[in-house]
Amino acid sequence: MSIDGTWAFTAESPRGEQSFAATFTSDGERLAGTMTGAQGIWEIDEGSVHGNEVGWLVRRAVMGMNLRFTGVVDGDQWTGKVKVGVLGSFPASAVRTTLEQPPPARSEPSLISAEGRADPYPIYARIRQDGPVRPVQGPLGGQVWMVTGYEEARALLNDPRISKHPRHAPQWLRDLGIVTADEGPTGTNMLNSDPPDHTRLRRLVSKGFTPRRIEALRPRVQRITDDLLDRMAPLGRVDLIDAFAYPLPITVISELIGVPEEDRDDFRSWTAAMLLMPLEEELRARRSQGIEAINGYLAALIERKRRDLRPGVPRDEQPDLASALVAAADDEDGLNERELVGMLNLLLVAGHETTVNLIGNGMAALLRHPGQLALLRDQPQLLPSAIEEMLRHDGPVEQGTGRTAVENIEIGEVTIPAGSQVTVALAAADRDPRRFPDPDRFDIQREDNAHVAFGHGLHFCLGAPLARMEAQIAFRGLLDRFPDLALDCPPEQLRQRPGTTPLFRGLAELPVKFTPAAR
Ligand code: HEM
Repeated sequence: MSIDGTWAFTAESPRGEQSFAATFTSDGERLAGTMTGAQGIWEIDEGSVHGNEVGWLVRRAVMGMNLRFTGVVDGDQWTGKVKVGVLGSFPASAVRTTLEQPPPARSEPSLISAEGRADPYPIYARIRQDGPVRPVQGPLGGQVWMVTGYEEARALLNDPRISKHPRHAPQWLRDLGIVTADEGPTGTNMLNSDPPDHTRLRRLVSKGFTPRRIEALRPRVQRITDDLLDRMAPLGRVDLIDAFAYPLPITVISELIGVPEEDRDDFRSWTAAMLLMPLEEELRARRSQGIEAINGYLAALIERKRRDLRPGVPRDEQPDLASALVAAADDEDGLNERELVGMLNLLLVAGHETTVNLIGNGMAALLRHPGQLALLRDQPQLLPSAIEEMLRHDGPVEQGTGRTAVENIEIGEVTIPAGSQVTVALAAADRDPRRFPDPDRFDIQREDNAHVAFGHGLHFCLGAPLARMEAQIAFRGLLDRFPDLALDCPPEQLRQRPGTTPLFRGLAELPVKFTPAAR
Protein backbone atom coordinates (compact mmCIF):
# COMPACT_ATOMS: atom_id res chain seq x y z
CA MET A 1 0.00 0.00 0.00
CA SER A 2 1.66 3.28 -1.03
CA ILE A 3 1.46 6.33 1.16
CA ASP A 4 3.62 8.49 -1.10
CA GLY A 5 2.10 11.85 -1.97
CA THR A 6 0.45 14.81 -0.25
CA TRP A 7 -2.17 14.31 2.44
CA ALA A 8 -4.58 16.61 4.26
CA PHE A 9 -5.01 15.72 7.94
CA THR A 10 -7.47 16.57 10.64
CA ALA A 11 -7.12 15.59 14.28
CA GLU A 12 -9.45 16.07 17.21
CA SER A 13 -7.74 17.73 20.15
CA PRO A 14 -8.81 19.36 23.40
CA ARG A 15 -8.38 22.73 21.61
CA GLY A 16 -10.71 21.74 18.75
CA GLU A 17 -10.04 20.33 15.31
CA GLN A 18 -6.46 20.78 14.05
CA SER A 19 -5.46 20.67 10.37
CA PHE A 20 -2.13 19.49 9.00
CA ALA A 21 -0.71 18.87 5.57
CA ALA A 22 1.91 16.18 4.97
CA THR A 23 4.05 15.02 2.08
CA PHE A 24 5.46 11.49 2.35
CA THR A 25 7.94 9.36 0.48
CA SER A 26 8.60 5.75 1.45
CA ASP A 27 10.96 3.01 0.32
CA GLY A 28 8.71 0.12 1.32
CA GLU A 29 9.52 0.13 5.04
CA ARG A 30 10.83 3.53 5.98
CA LEU A 31 8.78 6.67 5.70
CA ALA A 32 10.14 10.21 5.33
CA GLY A 33 8.61 13.60 4.64
CA THR A 34 7.41 16.85 6.13
CA MET A 35 4.30 17.96 7.96
CA THR A 36 2.86 21.46 8.21
CA GLY A 37 0.44 22.72 10.80
CA ALA A 38 -0.59 26.09 12.17
CA GLN A 39 2.38 25.83 14.56
CA GLY A 40 5.09 25.18 12.01
CA ILE A 41 6.71 22.92 9.46
CA TRP A 42 8.39 19.77 10.71
CA GLU A 43 10.55 17.03 9.29
CA ILE A 44 9.33 13.54 10.15
CA ASP A 45 11.89 12.11 12.58
CA GLU A 46 10.97 8.41 12.38
CA GLY A 47 8.47 6.74 10.10
CA SER A 48 7.60 3.16 9.21
CA VAL A 49 5.35 1.22 6.83
CA HIS A 50 4.31 -2.38 7.61
CA GLY A 51 1.69 -3.58 5.15
CA ASN A 52 -1.14 -1.10 5.51
CA GLU A 53 0.03 0.08 8.94
CA VAL A 54 1.74 3.43 8.71
CA GLY A 55 3.15 5.40 11.64
CA TRP A 56 5.53 8.28 12.22
CA LEU A 57 6.94 10.54 14.88
CA VAL A 58 7.56 14.28 14.83
CA ARG A 59 9.65 15.49 17.77
CA ARG A 60 8.92 18.71 19.65
CA ALA A 61 6.26 19.79 17.17
CA VAL A 62 3.58 21.44 19.29
CA MET A 63 4.55 23.36 22.43
CA GLY A 64 7.68 21.23 22.65
CA MET A 65 5.69 17.99 22.63
CA ASN A 66 6.16 15.00 20.33
CA LEU A 67 3.43 13.96 17.92
CA ARG A 68 3.17 10.21 17.25
CA PHE A 69 0.80 9.19 14.48
CA THR A 70 -0.33 5.56 14.10
CA GLY A 71 -3.00 4.19 11.77
CA VAL A 72 -3.89 2.26 8.65
CA VAL A 73 -4.02 3.36 5.06
CA ASP A 74 -6.77 2.23 2.73
CA GLY A 75 -6.42 3.64 -0.79
CA ASP A 76 -6.56 7.40 -0.46
CA GLN A 77 -7.75 7.32 3.16
CA TRP A 78 -5.69 7.08 6.38
CA THR A 79 -7.42 6.53 9.71
CA GLY A 80 -5.73 6.40 13.10
CA LYS A 81 -4.80 8.47 16.08
CA VAL A 82 -2.21 10.98 17.17
CA LYS A 83 -0.55 10.95 20.58
CA VAL A 84 0.34 14.49 21.67
CA GLY A 85 3.06 14.43 24.35
CA VAL A 86 1.50 14.04 27.77
CA LEU A 87 -1.89 15.36 26.61
CA GLY A 88 -3.06 11.94 25.38
CA SER A 89 -4.23 10.30 22.16
CA PHE A 90 -6.80 11.78 19.79
CA PRO A 91 -8.62 10.46 16.70
CA ALA A 92 -7.11 11.57 13.40
CA SER A 93 -7.79 10.96 9.71
CA ALA A 94 -6.37 12.03 6.38
CA VAL A 95 -7.15 11.99 2.69
CA ARG A 96 -4.66 11.99 -0.12
CA THR A 97 -4.92 15.23 -2.04
CA THR A 98 -4.33 15.35 -5.73
CA LEU A 99 -3.18 18.90 -6.08
CA GLU A 100 -3.03 20.08 -9.65
CA GLN A 101 0.32 21.84 -9.92
CA PRO A 102 0.47 24.33 -12.77
CA PRO A 103 3.66 24.10 -14.79
CA PRO A 104 6.58 26.16 -13.49
CA ALA A 105 6.80 29.69 -14.84
CA ARG A 106 8.24 30.14 -18.29
CA SER A 107 11.83 31.11 -18.42
CA GLU A 108 11.91 34.86 -17.87
CA PRO A 109 14.65 37.37 -17.29
CA SER A 110 14.79 37.37 -13.55
CA LEU A 111 12.99 40.07 -11.64
CA ILE A 112 16.32 40.88 -10.02
CA SER A 113 18.31 41.16 -13.27
CA ALA A 114 19.18 44.68 -14.44
CA GLU A 115 16.35 44.44 -16.97
CA GLY A 116 13.89 43.21 -14.35
CA ARG A 117 14.81 45.94 -11.90
CA ALA A 118 14.55 48.66 -14.55
CA ASP A 119 11.09 47.55 -15.67
CA PRO A 120 9.53 44.53 -13.97
CA TYR A 121 6.06 45.21 -15.36
CA PRO A 122 6.37 43.27 -18.67
CA ILE A 123 7.72 40.30 -16.67
CA TYR A 124 4.78 40.39 -14.28
CA ALA A 125 2.38 40.70 -17.25
CA ARG A 126 3.82 37.54 -18.80
CA ILE A 127 3.66 35.65 -15.48
CA ARG A 128 0.03 36.80 -15.09
CA GLN A 129 -0.82 35.46 -18.56
CA ASP A 130 -0.09 31.98 -17.22
CA GLY A 131 -2.38 32.59 -14.27
CA PRO A 132 -2.90 35.24 -11.58
CA VAL A 133 -1.47 32.89 -8.91
CA ARG A 134 1.29 30.54 -9.90
CA PRO A 135 4.53 29.00 -8.66
CA VAL A 136 7.77 30.55 -9.86
CA GLN A 137 11.39 29.97 -9.09
CA GLY A 138 12.19 32.79 -6.66
CA PRO A 139 15.48 34.71 -6.96
CA LEU A 140 16.80 33.07 -3.80
CA GLY A 141 16.36 29.59 -5.26
CA GLY A 142 13.23 28.35 -3.51
CA GLN A 143 9.78 28.09 -5.04
CA VAL A 144 7.33 30.88 -4.28
CA TRP A 145 3.71 31.30 -5.29
CA MET A 146 3.58 34.60 -7.10
CA VAL A 147 0.33 36.53 -7.00
CA THR A 148 -0.04 39.01 -9.87
CA GLY A 149 -3.86 39.34 -10.07
CA TYR A 150 -5.64 42.15 -8.25
CA GLU A 151 -8.65 40.23 -6.89
CA GLU A 152 -6.43 37.31 -5.91
CA ALA A 153 -3.98 39.65 -4.16
CA ARG A 154 -6.75 41.18 -2.06
CA ALA A 155 -8.25 37.78 -1.28
CA LEU A 156 -4.93 36.32 -0.11
CA LEU A 157 -3.89 39.42 1.86
CA ASN A 158 -7.11 38.96 3.80
CA ASP A 159 -6.97 35.18 4.19
CA PRO A 160 -6.53 33.87 7.76
CA ARG A 161 -4.93 30.71 6.34
CA ILE A 162 -1.92 32.85 5.40
CA SER A 163 0.57 33.55 8.16
CA LYS A 164 3.16 36.28 8.50
CA HIS A 165 5.01 34.62 11.37
CA PRO A 166 8.53 33.48 10.46
CA ARG A 167 8.04 30.24 12.37
CA HIS A 168 5.98 29.05 9.38
CA ALA A 169 8.52 30.11 6.77
CA PRO A 170 9.83 27.27 4.59
CA GLN A 171 13.10 25.63 5.54
CA TRP A 172 14.96 27.04 2.52
CA LEU A 173 14.43 30.57 3.82
CA ARG A 174 15.74 29.60 7.22
CA ASP A 175 18.73 27.84 5.67
CA LEU A 176 19.63 31.13 3.99
CA GLY A 177 19.50 32.84 7.38
CA ILE A 178 16.81 35.24 6.12
CA VAL A 179 14.46 34.37 8.92
CA THR A 180 14.97 32.51 12.14
CA ALA A 181 12.30 30.38 13.73
CA ASP A 182 11.03 33.22 15.84
CA GLU A 183 11.71 36.43 13.97
CA GLY A 184 12.50 38.14 10.71
CA PRO A 185 15.22 40.70 9.98
CA THR A 186 13.42 43.54 11.72
CA GLY A 187 12.94 41.57 14.93
CA THR A 188 9.61 40.87 16.54
CA ASN A 189 7.11 43.31 15.14
CA MET A 190 3.53 43.68 13.91
CA LEU A 191 4.46 43.07 10.29
CA ASN A 192 5.80 39.62 11.05
CA SER A 193 3.19 38.49 13.53
CA ASP A 194 -0.34 37.11 13.40
CA PRO A 195 -3.25 37.82 15.74
CA PRO A 196 -3.43 38.01 18.71
CA ASP A 197 0.16 39.40 18.89
CA HIS A 198 -0.41 41.52 15.81
CA THR A 199 -3.52 43.06 17.34
CA ARG A 200 -1.72 43.94 20.57
CA LEU A 201 1.36 45.39 18.84
CA ARG A 202 -0.62 47.44 16.34
CA ARG A 203 -3.05 48.75 18.94
CA LEU A 204 -0.18 50.22 20.96
CA VAL A 205 0.82 52.62 18.22
CA SER A 206 -2.28 52.97 16.04
CA LYS A 207 -3.57 55.90 18.08
CA GLY A 208 -0.51 57.90 17.02
CA PHE A 209 -1.25 57.41 13.32
CA THR A 210 -4.93 58.28 12.93
CA PRO A 211 -5.73 60.86 10.22
CA ARG A 212 -6.52 63.40 12.98
CA ARG A 213 -3.18 62.92 14.78
CA ILE A 214 -1.38 63.09 11.47
CA GLU A 215 -3.20 66.30 10.47
CA ALA A 216 -1.78 67.89 13.62
CA LEU A 217 1.73 67.29 12.24
CA ARG A 218 0.97 69.20 9.02
CA PRO A 219 2.53 72.55 10.06
CA ARG A 220 5.74 70.85 11.16
CA VAL A 221 5.98 68.80 7.93
CA GLN A 222 5.38 72.01 5.97
CA ARG A 223 8.25 73.72 7.81
CA ILE A 224 10.66 70.84 7.22
CA THR A 225 9.69 70.86 3.52
CA ASP A 226 10.13 74.63 3.21
CA ASP A 227 13.61 74.44 4.77
CA LEU A 228 14.68 71.76 2.31
CA LEU A 229 13.28 73.73 -0.63
CA ASP A 230 15.08 76.88 0.58
CA ARG A 231 18.33 74.98 0.59
CA MET A 232 17.73 73.59 -2.92
CA ALA A 233 16.52 76.83 -4.52
CA PRO A 234 19.88 78.62 -5.19
CA LEU A 235 21.52 75.48 -6.58
CA GLY A 236 19.75 75.13 -9.94
CA ARG A 237 20.45 71.42 -10.23
CA VAL A 238 20.34 68.69 -7.58
CA ASP A 239 19.85 64.98 -7.09
CA LEU A 240 16.26 65.19 -5.87
CA ILE A 241 16.56 61.95 -3.89
CA ASP A 242 19.52 63.21 -1.89
CA ALA A 243 18.46 66.84 -1.51
CA PHE A 244 14.77 66.32 -0.80
CA ALA A 245 13.05 62.92 -1.11
CA TYR A 246 15.30 61.25 1.47
CA PRO A 247 15.70 63.95 4.15
CA LEU A 248 11.99 64.85 4.32
CA PRO A 249 10.53 61.53 5.53
CA ILE A 250 13.57 60.60 7.65
CA THR A 251 13.28 63.92 9.47
CA VAL A 252 9.54 63.51 10.02
CA ILE A 253 9.67 59.93 11.31
CA SER A 254 12.79 60.61 13.42
CA GLU A 255 11.10 63.56 15.12
CA LEU A 256 7.98 61.49 15.69
CA ILE A 257 9.95 58.64 17.25
CA GLY A 258 12.52 60.81 19.02
CA VAL A 259 15.78 59.99 17.19
CA PRO A 260 18.22 62.88 17.71
CA GLU A 261 19.29 64.76 14.59
CA GLU A 262 22.98 63.89 14.85
CA ASP A 263 22.21 60.14 14.67
CA ARG A 264 20.05 60.19 11.55
CA ASP A 265 22.72 59.94 8.86
CA ASP A 266 23.74 56.49 10.06
CA PHE A 267 20.30 55.11 9.26
CA ARG A 268 20.76 55.56 5.58
CA SER A 269 23.70 53.16 5.39
CA TRP A 270 22.27 50.75 7.98
CA THR A 271 18.90 50.37 6.29
CA ALA A 272 20.52 50.17 2.85
CA ALA A 273 22.57 47.23 4.18
CA MET A 274 19.54 45.68 5.85
CA LEU A 275 17.60 45.70 2.57
CA LEU A 276 20.34 44.07 0.48
CA MET A 277 19.35 40.99 -1.46
CA PRO A 278 21.18 38.23 0.46
CA LEU A 279 22.36 36.37 -2.66
CA GLU A 280 25.95 35.75 -1.63
CA GLU A 281 27.85 35.21 1.57
CA GLU A 282 29.35 38.71 1.45
CA LEU A 283 25.93 40.36 0.99
CA ARG A 284 24.48 38.23 3.77
CA ALA A 285 27.29 39.38 6.07
CA ARG A 286 26.75 43.05 5.20
CA ARG A 287 23.04 42.64 5.69
CA SER A 288 23.54 41.08 9.13
CA GLN A 289 25.92 43.89 10.11
CA GLY A 290 23.29 46.47 9.08
CA ILE A 291 20.63 44.72 11.15
CA GLU A 292 22.94 44.44 14.16
CA ALA A 293 23.98 48.08 13.92
CA ILE A 294 20.45 49.41 13.74
CA ASN A 295 19.15 47.16 16.51
CA GLY A 296 22.15 47.95 18.72
CA TYR A 297 21.52 51.65 18.21
CA LEU A 298 17.82 51.27 19.02
CA ALA A 299 18.53 49.29 22.20
CA ALA A 300 20.80 52.13 23.36
CA LEU A 301 18.19 54.73 22.39
CA ILE A 302 15.55 52.90 24.44
CA GLU A 303 17.95 52.87 27.38
CA ARG A 304 18.43 56.65 27.05
CA LYS A 305 14.66 57.23 26.84
CA ARG A 306 14.13 55.08 29.92
CA ARG A 307 16.73 57.08 31.85
CA ASP A 308 15.23 60.40 30.81
CA LEU A 309 11.62 59.37 31.39
CA ARG A 310 9.77 61.88 33.55
CA PRO A 311 8.04 59.88 36.28
CA GLY A 312 4.27 60.13 36.54
CA VAL A 313 3.79 61.62 33.05
CA PRO A 314 1.12 59.59 31.18
CA ARG A 315 2.26 57.85 28.01
CA ASP A 316 0.15 60.11 25.78
CA GLU A 317 2.00 63.16 27.09
CA GLN A 318 5.51 61.82 26.57
CA PRO A 319 7.67 63.95 24.23
CA ASP A 320 7.98 61.29 21.52
CA LEU A 321 6.77 57.84 20.49
CA ALA A 322 9.83 55.96 21.78
CA SER A 323 9.36 57.50 25.25
CA ALA A 324 5.62 56.71 25.12
CA LEU A 325 6.36 53.05 24.32
CA VAL A 326 8.99 52.85 27.06
CA ALA A 327 6.52 54.43 29.51
CA ALA A 328 3.92 51.82 28.52
CA ALA A 329 6.33 48.91 28.90
CA ASP A 330 5.08 47.99 32.35
CA ASP A 331 1.40 48.06 31.35
CA GLU A 332 -0.43 44.82 30.75
CA ASP A 333 -0.24 45.23 26.95
CA GLY A 334 3.25 46.81 27.04
CA LEU A 335 6.19 45.74 24.93
CA ASN A 336 9.10 43.61 26.09
CA GLU A 337 12.65 44.66 25.14
CA ARG A 338 12.78 42.75 21.85
CA GLU A 339 9.38 44.03 20.85
CA LEU A 340 10.45 47.60 21.61
CA VAL A 341 13.47 47.29 19.32
CA GLY A 342 11.35 45.53 16.67
CA MET A 343 8.66 48.21 16.78
CA LEU A 344 11.08 51.13 16.45
CA ASN A 345 13.02 49.34 13.72
CA LEU A 346 9.84 48.72 11.72
CA LEU A 347 8.53 52.26 12.14
CA LEU A 348 11.85 53.80 11.13
CA VAL A 349 12.38 51.60 8.09
CA ALA A 350 8.75 51.53 6.94
CA GLY A 351 8.41 55.21 7.72
CA HIS A 352 11.14 56.47 5.44
CA GLU A 353 12.26 53.90 2.83
CA THR A 354 8.82 53.97 1.25
CA THR A 355 7.98 57.67 1.27
CA VAL A 356 11.37 58.51 -0.30
CA ASN A 357 10.31 56.34 -3.20
CA LEU A 358 6.82 57.79 -3.48
CA ILE A 359 8.39 61.23 -3.92
CA GLY A 360 11.15 59.92 -6.24
CA ASN A 361 9.06 57.58 -8.42
CA GLY A 362 6.15 60.01 -8.48
CA MET A 363 8.25 62.99 -9.57
CA ALA A 364 10.04 60.84 -12.16
CA ALA A 365 6.63 59.79 -13.57
CA LEU A 366 5.51 63.43 -13.82
CA LEU A 367 8.77 64.51 -15.48
CA ARG A 368 8.51 61.64 -17.96
CA HIS A 369 4.89 62.54 -18.79
CA PRO A 370 5.04 66.30 -19.53
CA GLY A 371 1.35 66.38 -20.52
CA GLN A 372 0.33 65.07 -17.10
CA LEU A 373 2.73 67.46 -15.36
CA ALA A 374 1.24 70.41 -17.25
CA LEU A 375 -2.26 69.24 -16.35
CA LEU A 376 -1.35 69.08 -12.67
CA ARG A 377 0.23 72.54 -12.77
CA ASP A 378 -2.91 73.80 -14.43
CA GLN A 379 -5.34 72.06 -12.07
CA PRO A 380 -3.64 71.79 -8.65
CA GLN A 381 -6.80 70.28 -7.15
CA LEU A 382 -5.83 67.07 -9.00
CA LEU A 383 -2.90 66.52 -6.60
CA PRO A 384 -4.59 63.93 -4.31
CA SER A 385 -5.72 61.89 -7.31
CA ALA A 386 -2.27 62.28 -8.92
CA ILE A 387 -0.66 60.86 -5.77
CA GLU A 388 -2.98 57.84 -5.84
CA GLU A 389 -2.01 57.26 -9.47
CA MET A 390 1.71 57.51 -8.58
CA LEU A 391 1.11 54.85 -5.93
CA ARG A 392 -0.76 52.56 -8.33
CA HIS A 393 1.43 53.09 -11.38
CA ASP A 394 4.86 52.64 -9.78
CA GLY A 395 4.34 52.26 -6.05
CA PRO A 396 7.25 52.16 -3.58
CA VAL A 397 6.53 48.59 -2.47
CA GLU A 398 6.87 46.19 -5.38
CA GLN A 399 6.21 42.98 -3.46
CA GLY A 400 4.45 42.50 -0.14
CA THR A 401 6.57 40.99 2.62
CA GLY A 402 6.84 37.20 2.91
CA ARG A 403 3.86 35.09 3.81
CA THR A 404 3.27 31.36 4.23
CA ALA A 405 0.16 29.28 3.55
CA VAL A 406 -0.55 27.24 6.68
CA GLU A 407 -3.31 25.24 5.00
CA ASN A 408 -4.02 24.27 1.42
CA ILE A 409 -5.68 27.26 -0.20
CA GLU A 410 -7.81 26.89 -3.29
CA ILE A 411 -7.82 30.07 -5.27
CA GLY A 412 -9.12 30.32 -8.82
CA GLU A 413 -7.91 27.26 -10.65
CA VAL A 414 -4.99 26.42 -8.38
CA THR A 415 -4.40 25.14 -4.88
CA ILE A 416 -1.51 26.66 -2.95
CA PRO A 417 -0.21 23.77 -0.86
CA ALA A 418 0.18 24.29 2.89
CA GLY A 419 3.75 25.27 3.73
CA SER A 420 4.28 27.28 0.53
CA GLN A 421 5.86 30.72 0.48
CA VAL A 422 3.48 33.27 -1.04
CA THR A 423 4.62 36.56 -2.60
CA VAL A 424 1.93 39.09 -3.36
CA ALA A 425 3.34 41.33 -6.09
CA LEU A 426 1.48 44.53 -5.21
CA ALA A 427 2.98 46.38 -8.16
CA ALA A 428 1.71 43.66 -10.51
CA ALA A 429 -1.77 43.57 -8.94
CA ASP A 430 -1.98 47.31 -9.49
CA ARG A 431 -1.37 46.80 -13.22
CA ASP A 432 -3.90 43.98 -13.60
CA PRO A 433 -5.84 44.81 -16.79
CA ARG A 434 -8.92 42.99 -15.43
CA ARG A 435 -9.12 45.71 -12.75
CA PHE A 436 -7.49 48.83 -14.23
CA PRO A 437 -8.24 49.69 -17.86
CA ASP A 438 -5.08 50.42 -19.84
CA PRO A 439 -3.05 49.76 -16.69
CA ASP A 440 0.35 50.87 -17.97
CA ARG A 441 -0.90 54.37 -18.73
CA PHE A 442 -0.03 57.06 -16.15
CA ASP A 443 -3.26 59.03 -15.81
CA ILE A 444 -3.56 61.45 -12.90
CA GLN A 445 -7.30 61.76 -13.52
CA ARG A 446 -7.93 58.02 -13.22
CA GLU A 447 -11.10 57.29 -11.33
CA ASP A 448 -11.96 54.14 -9.37
CA ASN A 449 -8.31 53.82 -8.37
CA ALA A 450 -8.46 51.51 -5.32
CA HIS A 451 -4.87 50.28 -5.60
CA VAL A 452 -3.09 47.96 -3.17
CA ALA A 453 0.12 50.00 -2.92
CA PHE A 454 -0.43 50.23 0.86
CA GLY A 455 -1.33 46.53 1.09
CA HIS A 456 -4.70 45.24 2.22
CA GLY A 457 -6.29 43.52 5.19
CA LEU A 458 -4.78 43.23 8.68
CA HIS A 459 -1.37 44.54 7.68
CA PHE A 460 -2.68 47.52 5.67
CA CYS A 461 -0.08 50.27 6.02
CA LEU A 462 -0.29 51.99 9.36
CA GLY A 463 1.48 55.04 7.98
CA ALA A 464 -0.74 55.61 4.91
CA PRO A 465 -2.25 58.89 6.22
CA LEU A 466 1.23 60.20 7.09
CA ALA A 467 2.68 59.16 3.72
CA ARG A 468 -0.19 60.81 1.82
CA MET A 469 0.15 64.03 3.81
CA GLU A 470 3.94 64.19 3.32
CA ALA A 471 3.52 63.56 -0.40
CA GLN A 472 0.92 66.30 -0.78
CA ILE A 473 3.13 68.85 0.95
CA ALA A 474 6.21 67.68 -0.95
CA PHE A 475 4.69 67.83 -4.44
CA ARG A 476 2.86 71.08 -3.79
CA GLY A 477 6.14 72.64 -2.61
CA LEU A 478 8.22 71.33 -5.51
CA LEU A 479 5.72 72.39 -8.18
CA ASP A 480 5.12 75.84 -6.68
CA ARG A 481 8.77 76.69 -6.05
CA PHE A 482 10.21 75.35 -9.31
CA PRO A 483 7.93 76.17 -12.26
CA ASP A 484 10.47 74.87 -14.80
CA LEU A 485 11.60 71.75 -12.92
CA ALA A 486 12.92 69.22 -15.48
CA LEU A 487 14.93 66.02 -15.67
CA ASP A 488 18.67 66.63 -15.85
CA CYS A 489 19.53 63.38 -17.63
CA PRO A 490 18.04 61.29 -20.45
CA PRO A 491 15.12 59.31 -18.92
CA GLU A 492 16.72 55.98 -19.86
CA GLN A 493 19.65 56.79 -17.56
CA LEU A 494 17.45 56.65 -14.44
CA ARG A 495 18.45 53.57 -12.43
CA GLN A 496 16.87 51.68 -9.58
CA ARG A 497 18.94 51.49 -6.42
CA PRO A 498 21.20 48.49 -7.02
CA GLY A 499 21.26 45.39 -4.87
CA THR A 500 18.09 45.86 -2.86
CA THR A 501 15.33 43.28 -2.66
CA PRO A 502 12.38 43.59 -5.05
CA LEU A 503 10.42 44.53 -1.99
CA PHE A 504 11.03 48.18 -2.82
CA ARG A 505 11.05 50.15 -6.03
CA GLY A 506 13.12 53.30 -5.82
CA LEU A 507 15.58 55.31 -7.86
CA ALA A 508 19.26 55.53 -6.98
CA GLU A 509 19.30 59.16 -8.12
CA LEU A 510 16.91 61.63 -9.72
CA PRO A 511 18.94 64.48 -11.29
CA VAL A 512 16.76 67.56 -11.85
CA LYS A 513 17.37 71.14 -12.94
CA PHE A 514 15.49 74.41 -12.52
CA THR A 515 16.15 78.14 -12.68
CA PRO A 516 18.07 78.94 -9.50
CA ALA A 517 16.69 81.54 -7.13
CA ALA A 518 18.96 84.50 -6.36
CA ARG A 519 20.87 83.91 -3.13
C1 HEM B 1 4.24 55.85 0.39
C2 HEM B 1 4.65 55.37 1.49
C3 HEM B 1 4.29 54.02 2.00
C4 HEM B 1 3.93 52.89 1.32
C5 HEM B 1 3.74 52.70 -0.17
C6 HEM B 1 3.73 51.84 2.32
C7 HEM B 1 3.34 50.56 2.02
C8 HEM B 1 3.09 49.59 2.96
C9 HEM B 1 2.64 48.26 2.64
C10 HEM B 1 2.42 47.71 1.24
C11 HEM B 1 2.47 47.60 3.80
C12 HEM B 1 1.99 46.15 3.97
C13 HEM B 1 3.11 45.18 3.70
C14 HEM B 1 2.63 43.75 3.67
O1 HEM B 1 1.45 43.47 3.94
O2 HEM B 1 3.47 42.88 3.36
C15 HEM B 1 2.82 48.50 4.87
C16 HEM B 1 2.78 48.18 6.20
C17 HEM B 1 3.20 49.05 7.18
N1 HEM B 1 3.59 50.37 7.02
FE1 HEM B 1 3.69 51.40 5.31
N2 HEM B 1 3.99 52.36 3.55
C18 HEM B 1 4.33 53.68 3.42
C19 HEM B 1 4.64 54.57 4.41
C20 HEM B 1 4.64 54.28 5.74
C21 HEM B 1 4.92 55.23 6.79
C22 HEM B 1 5.22 56.72 6.59
C23 HEM B 1 4.86 54.55 7.95
C24 HEM B 1 5.08 55.21 9.28
C25 HEM B 1 5.40 54.78 10.33
C26 HEM B 1 4.53 53.15 7.64
C27 HEM B 1 4.37 52.13 8.56
C28 HEM B 1 3.93 50.86 8.26
C29 HEM B 1 3.73 49.83 9.26
C30 HEM B 1 3.98 49.95 10.75
C31 HEM B 1 3.28 48.69 8.58
C32 HEM B 1 2.92 47.34 9.19
C33 HEM B 1 1.45 47.28 9.49
C34 HEM B 1 1.00 45.94 10.07
O3 HEM B 1 1.73 44.94 9.98
O4 HEM B 1 -0.11 45.90 10.63
N3 HEM B 1 4.40 53.04 6.30
N4 HEM B 1 3.18 49.72 4.32
